Amino acid sequence: MDPRPQAATARIRSDVAHNARVWNYWLGGKDNYPVDRAVGDRVTGMYPSIGEVARADRAFLGRAVRHLAGDVGVDQFLDIGTGLPTVNNTHEIAQHTAPHARIVYVDNDPIVLAHARALLTSSLEGATEYVDADAHRPEQILRAAEPTLDLGRPVAVMMLGILNFVLDGDEARSIVRTLMAAVPSGSHLVLTHPTLELGGEGNEAAMRFWNENATPPITARSREEFASFLEGLEILEPGIVSCSRWRTSPREPEVAQFGVVARKP
Ligand SMILES: C[S@@+](CC[C@H](N)C(=O)[O-])C[C@H]1O[C@@H](n2cnc3c(N)ncnc32)[C@H](O)[C@@H]1O
Repeated sequence: MDPRPQAATARIRSDVAHNARVWNYWLGGKDNYPVDRAVGDRVTGMYPSIGEVARADRAFLGRAVRHLAGDVGVDQFLDIGTGLPTVNNTHEIAQHTAPHARIVYVDNDPIVLAHARALLTSSLEGATEYVDADAHRPEQILRAAEPTLDLGRPVAVMMLGILNFVLDGDEARSIVRTLMAAVPSGSHLVLTHPTLELGGEGNEAAMRFWNENATPPITARSREEFASFLEGLEILEPGIVSCSRWRTSPREPEVAQFGVVARKP
């Protein structure tokens, strides 16, 4: 799909903090506005480990994609809720291991769309595509991914830090089910999600502040709610853990963000 930076620019609101830009700020990026930095700083004041959560989430993404592309042999990735381009984007990690890997990125934030060209630097052997679409419309995402991904072969469906913006649990489960029903056995689901468990209790007030001052609104989920996204899938070792602990040392400090990789049998 054609990333239309000019049309995207018209949709950008610089007066309201947006998740993709605040996430970019917490990761040390420069693609954010004063309003994003102000809200980002207020949240950090209430919940000081939010920057560690963001960094741990990205590091988890790197380990999960390397494992899938390298050890498992998955070479197609559907990365929904891409975020702003940063270091070690999904296609860079996947194609470093498997140069022929094909990646479709999906986000609905116009600022991500405006920067999408930075995500379209595929290896010659592989492919990357960017789709401006909403996670609430999984069928539309699948249709848009089809020209780039062969949905008859295994796909890694990645939803890192995005189901938390689908506030209704039944809808979030239905989105995951629709996506995973469209891909064959051997496909994988890669998820991260904020929680008030794992030491995240202090995030409650920060999330309330976020919901009053920024977009889109967010929710945390318990381990049980997170596990409900994995119905019918085989959970890879080490299971549902803090994303900072996924295939790292058990001495690694936990962050209040679940991470998991699961396989469709
Ligand atoms: C917390 S960031 C995570 C970025 C990246 N996945 C990561 O883990 O570093 C969440 C991203 O999801 C995107 N997002 C939020 N709601 C969305 C929706 N309904 N449809 C598509 N993207 C959405 C935001 O624009 C943002 O870029």
